[in-house]
Amino acid sequence: MANNWIDAAAEADVPEDDVTAVAAGGAELALYSVEGQVYATANLCSHGNARLCDGFLDGYEIECPLHQGKFDIRDGRASCAPATEAVRSYPVKIENGRVYVDLG
Ligand code: FES
Repeated sequence: MANNWIDAAAEADVPEDDVTAVAAGGAELALYSVEGQVYATANLCSHGNARLCDGFLDGYEIECPLHQGKFDIRDGRASCAPATEAVRSYPVKIENGRVYVDLG
C-alpha cells in the first residue's frame, strides 16, 4: 500500500507521557509521546464506543476509560481484557517539528 503521510500535529502539542486526540485525513487519531518518541493509533476503542484519548497512559499501555481494556500504543495490540481486538496503529515520522502519520 502506498504511503499517505498526513501532517497531524505539531510535535510540541503532543504531551509527554500522555495522550491527545487529533483529526487528520478523515481519521480520528490518538497521539502519544513516550520517551521522546511519538506514536499514533486509532482513537476509538476496538471494544466499544470510547475514546482512547480519554483514557490513562501508563508506559506504553493506554487504558480505555470505559471498561479498562488496554492496548500497546506501539503496535495497537490488545494487552488486557475485555479488549481482544487490536486498534489500528500508524507509522509516525517527525519533520521540522511536525508529526506526520502514515494513514496508508
Ligand atoms: S470500550 Fe474500551 S474496553 Fe470497552
